[in-house]
Amino acid sequence: MTRILGIESSCDETGIAIVEDGRRILAAEVASQIKIHAEFGGVVPEIASRQHIQCISQIAERVMGAVDGPVDAVAATIGPGLMGSLLVGANFAKALCYAWKIPFIPVHHIEGHIFSVFLTDAPPTFPFLALVVSGGHTCIIACDAPHQYKTLGSTRDDAVGESFDKVARLLGLPYPGGPSIQEAAKEGNPKAIRFPRGLEKSGKLEFSYSGLKTAVLYEMRKNNAAVGDVAASFQDAAIDVLLTKTKLAIELTGSPRLVLAGGVAANQLLRDRLTTELDVPVHMPPMSLCVDNGAMIAAAGHSRLKHGFTGALDATPTPNLPL
Ligand SMILES: Nc1ncnc2c1ncn2[C@@H]1O[C@H](COP(=O)(O)OP(=O)(O)OP(=O)(O)O)[C@@H](O)[C@H]1O
Ligand SMILES: [Mg+2]
Repeated sequence: MTRILGIESSCDETGIAIVEDGRRILAAEVASQIKIHAEFGGVVPEIASRQHIQCISQIAERVMGAVDGPVDAVAATIGPGLMGSLLVGANFAKALCYAWKIPFIPVHHIEGHIFSVFLTDAPPTFPFLALVVSGGHTCIIACDAPHQYKTLGSTRDDAVGESFDKVARLLGLPYPGGPSIQEAAKEGNPKAIRFPRGLEKSGKLEFSYSGLKTAVLYEMRKNNAAVGDVAASFQDAAIDVLLTKTKLAIELTGSPRLVLAGGVAANQLLRDRLTTELDVPVHMPPMSLCVDNGAMIAAAGHSRLKHGFTGALDATPTPNLPL
């Protein structure tokens, strides 16, 4: 039995959890700063790091107090993310490791998102393809063995979550854009406006979302379309591209299964379409583990520890850390 304390602080969520054997969440808490940043329409880095500092020790005390006995190691997000935010979680984790004389495990944030599916009743086996869709990433990754990743394609410009956030702003909907566009789309017709599907027919696994955002802007300047119709048509186009590229990736690689991860994995249309339209099994995290959380970092940390990838206490957070 191995217990890992996982700490996530790369953006605007302070997430801390204790996970047993990389599979069972014993205790977990996430403090979201969404309300604080909402008035600015996006995350303000300096405010984010201060908020992490204000709440991290109380959350850690509550999570550790909910579980009897010690932990075997502490895992923390080391990048990518906001430097000030990363520093808070990573330094907190290192201090605990130093005091308790246990290993420190630095974890890549995207690896954490991928490992959120190991916290489900039906975890995937390797190899698999991962579709990672979040606020900062849109990529298809071949995961051939634990901690071996090959990015097959990613976005040239905006990430899909970023495009939901930007379009929501254009439509006067609240931050974060993903949930508010999904809600507004329920009142609209997804076929009302035919928005462009970026790089749809390129035959490559690259994505582009900036043209879609611009098309929404022009549509709103030109016509007086209903917000619900724009939201539904935008969502339809954004998700359509994810389906096209994922199908292409499975065709090109012959991969036997797909893992969906990242904040946009909470999108119901995406979940439904992947479940019904793919010929391979799809593993997705529960809604609560789609956005940033400490449990996914603990799960990735557990696997890293098992495979001998612990870090030194001088490991430095890296804002643009490659996978
Ligand atoms: N239901 C939804 N539909 C579409 N997008 C969603 C939904 N729920 C959340 N999102 C989007 O997910 C993103 C947040 O995900 P996440 O917390 O993983 O991003 P991040 O940590 O900021 O970025 P990254 O993981 O790339 O560093 C936001 O862009 C948000 O709009
Ligand atoms: Mg994230």
